[in-house]
Amino acid sequence: MRDVAIIGVSQTKFGELWDDSFRDLITDAGLGAIKDAGIEGGDLEAMYVGNMSAGLFVQQEHIASLIADHAGLTPIPCARIEAACASGGLALRNGIMAVASGFHDIVISAGVEKMTDVVDPTPAIATASDQEWEAQQGVTFPSLYAMMARRHMHEFGTTREQMAMVSVINHKNATKNPRAQYPMEVSIDQVMNSTMVADPLRLLDCSPISDGAAAAILCPAEDAKKYTDTPIYVKASAQSSGSLALHDRKKITTIDATVNAARKAFQMADMTPKNIDMVEVHDCFSINGILAIEDIGFVEKGKGGQAIEDGMTQLDGEIPVNPSGGLKARGHPLGATGIAQAAEIVWQLRGEAGKRQINNAEVGMTHNIGGTGGTAAVHILSK
Ligand SMILES: CC(C)(COP(=O)(O)OP(=O)(O)OC[C@H]1O[C@@H](n2cnc3c(N)ncnc32)[C@H](O)[C@@H]1OP(=O)(O)O)[C@@H](O)C(=O)NCCC(=O)NCCS
Repeated sequence: MRDVAIIGVSQTKFGELWDDSFRDLITDAGLGAIKDAGIEGGDLEAMYVGNMSAGLFVQQEHIASLIADHAGLTPIPCARIEAACASGGLALRNGIMAVASGFHDIVISAGVEKMTDVVDPTPAIATASDQEWEAQQGVTFPSLYAMMARRHMHEFGTTREQMAMVSVINHKNATKNPRAQYPMEVSIDQVMNSTMVADPLRLLDCSPISDGAAAAILCPAEDAKKYTDTPIYVKASAQSSGSLALHDRKKITTIDATVNAARKAFQMADMTPKNIDMVEVHDCFSINGILAIEDIGFVEKGKGGQAIEDGMTQLDGEIPVNPSGGLKARGHPLGATGIAQAAEIVWQLRGEAGKRQINNAEVGMTHNIGGTGGTAAVHILSK
């Protein structure tokens, strides 16, 4: 296997983007990454695009060919990768595997979702759960994560305030990110008094409905310096599946797919949580900001809420979490998220993260989940 490097990244602004179509978004992100890498579109040998549900959100299937055509890249081989909200993370992983295997030299891994064009996106998002046993019984994503939150509060004494802190920190970080959807500060009181969505989760505990795209260019590590002085190296790319439905799990206070993917990633990189300088975690709901740091292994199970209350995950904390603002405040266009997480780590490691820059960062991690944990993708990147 060859080592792989990321030589270019890009992300559109995330938000409710009425003026940009699905194809505009992904093309903007792709062109941005091509420019950042200093290559030509014709240098690309393959494209992997993470997308959860263009069929339901914009009534468009066969998006890989649409994108290749619109971007002027035909006859490039291009594939859509789908694993619900982990589609972007898996598009990155497929690109990495294509380069590592020697099958292709320069590839683009991207992700895109345009969610705001439908009147009610909730049923489309719910297709990432078990249709027969969950969605058709009336379950939505906020309610699934609400059950996980309630159980975590019951078993470990996690408090409402601790969950609110996850959102407070994310929104604070997002004020320093010009690409974020909700770059405004919120207080614990505001989170706890925001509109109830699914008890105990309120509006400000939830990631939003977002439009956006992101892209990354990969090449063999040995060639990376031909294109950039600051290549970022892929130290690990791990993926795990887990039970789709909550009722099939032994516990709903742990996401096994995260535990397994993180364990594999640490093995592959020959690292432990102590080697990680910052992490972008999949905090689609505030409770998942707590589950993620426990399941990856930054803190013991049950101690995540306290760690957040103690400031461990703040920008200047022991392990900064979601310097970008995370899914909560940067936004969560489902298929784009896994790539946007990698872009943030690349900017941080290159020292290009502006006001949210974490000093002396050498190694970063991304953690991307599909559904409530049917899929998890974990990547470790280093200078
Ligand atoms: C929480 C949620 C239900 C809110 O949707 P909604 O009630 O339709 O909200 P609206 O679009 O009517 O927005 C109401 C206001 O809240 C704001 N808002 C909406 N969602 C927000 C969020 N998540 N965080 C902060 N503000 C939000 C809007 O900007 C709007 O503000 P305004 O009145 O000043 O214009 C929706 O964002 C949601 O479903 N989130 C979860 C998405 C999800 O499940 N993703 C997959 C995870 S695995």
